[in-house]
Amino acid sequence: MNICVVGTGYVGLVTATCFAEMGHLVIGVDVDVAKVDRLSKGESPLYEPGLKELLHRNIKAGRLSFSTDLASAVSRSLFIFIAVGTPMGADGSADLKSVLSVSRSVAAAMDGYRVIVVKSTVPVGTCQLVEKEISGVLERLRMGSPVSFDVVSNPEFLKEGSAVNDFMRPDRVVVGVSNPQVSELMKELYAPFLRNGHPVIMMDVFSSELTKYASNAFLAMKISFMNKVAQICDKVGADVMNVRSGMGSDPRIGLPFLYAGVGYGGSCFPKDVQAFVRTGTSYGVDMGLLEEVEKINNQQKEWALRKILDAYPDPAGLKVAIWGGAFKPETDDVRDAPSIAVISGLLERKIAISLYDPEAMAGLRLIFPAGIQFCENPYDVLNDADVLLLLTEWREFRNPDWEKVKGLMRGRLVLDGRNQYEASDLASHGLSCVGVGRGCITAKP
Ligand SMILES: NC(=O)c1ccc[n+]([C@@H]2O[C@H](COP(=O)([O-])OP(=O)(O)OC[C@H]3O[C@@H](n4cnc5c(N)ncnc54)[C@H](O)[C@@H]3O)[C@@H](O)[C@H]2O)c1
Repeated sequence: MNICVVGTGYVGLVTATCFAEMGHLVIGVDVDVAKVDRLSKGESPLYEPGLKELLHRNIKAGRLSFSTDLASAVSRSLFIFIAVGTPMGADGSADLKSVLSVSRSVAAAMDGYRVIVVKSTVPVGTCQLVEKEISGVLERLRMGSPVSFDVVSNPEFLKEGSAVNDFMRPDRVVVGVSNPQVSELMKELYAPFLRNGHPVIMMDVFSSELTKYASNAFLAMKISFMNKVAQICDKVGADVMNVRSGMGSDPRIGLPFLYAGVGYGGSCFPKDVQAFVRTGTSYGVDMGLLEEVEKINNQQKEWALRKILDAYPDPAGLKVAIWGGAFKPETDDVRDAPSIAVISGLLERKIAISLYDPEAMAGLRLIFPAGIQFCENPYDVLNDADVLLLLTEWREFRNPDWEKVKGLMRGRLVLDGRNQYEASDLASHGLSCVGVGRGCITAKP
């Protein structure tokens, strides 16, 4: 089938590439000329495991191309996937400017039946708005020869860091659609990805739009819940990792996503929780539960700074070495990463910072052009550091050479913002480790 994917960011690029890998003819369209140029040369503008290889293969095979020319791509495609950003607007709700302007441009280029698939995360009612925008343009431009179309909701559940794998082997595909013929088309399109027996879940459009926000808000709630449990653990001397094992073994609860840490971040949870709160509130539903989730998360982003100031009430001359800046491992994405709040807090107190992240330093350099010493490997950051702070649990930070770490550092304090280390293990190397909710350890610098 011929497919156009509008927006070639984390979602759009992975969507386009994976559909091409399944044999479809795909054109990725973006307004960012530099991005399209790079993509056309087979260069991925973002880091996602496995993506580069698929990109090369499918461009070479002639199944995947990139363009800034939306009209031409629409004229050659049956399916138009909209995967542009829906950032947080000034009042916390999702900003639909790009989705709606793309819808109008698509309509202007339609010369026959098309299926417009909204893959961006959008509030309930957006597909209806998209339909209205398209109808409006079609009425104006093609009064004599009506063009028919369907709008489908198809929220994306891929996770950055394993986006290709998630798209190729989804645990479910959610489709909101009112036309049964389009249901069949969508099933056909996704069938090759669901040989594992996982379902395409067909539903009405409103439910589909809500499913995405409900899912992200629920996951954010799990994290904030564990962070609250961790705060109690710290007070009473319990270990949140033990509590996690005990709780998560109950199949009704489950272990995934039951982690205390430095707070959630990234391009989705923070904005989606806020947008969901705005949606509920606009319908008169009290969204206090999710407001609390966000409040706990904001508190949690202060965990590292609090621990540093507990250990060093006068931070003059202090140096903090940071491992990791991406909002999670296996991505270069730093949008709304907890590291940004942590670094800002340290810089405000004039604390020196050195940082290493395998993929995210370019993104952090744009946010912090000054004030951070970026290093090319995890050990270089440690020279004369008083504190080592783990913010992203990249695999290469899992088993460091603690003797080498101790030898390079001036201080002895390791702040484990992702609960990757055992305090007893580090103690045997003469280091003092403080995790999140792992008991009441008073670290002596
Ligand atoms: N990133 C994720 O992990 C993830 C997961 C699931 C869903 N989502 C949702 O998918 C959507 C896209 O997210 P993303 O992370 O891929 O965003 P992104 O910012 O990485 O990419 C968006 C792309 O759209 C392009 N764009 C903007 N306006 C355009 C226009 N008018 N025409 C053509 N291109 C345009 C931008 O240049 C950019 O390349 C959002 O709604 C997001 O909430 C994201």
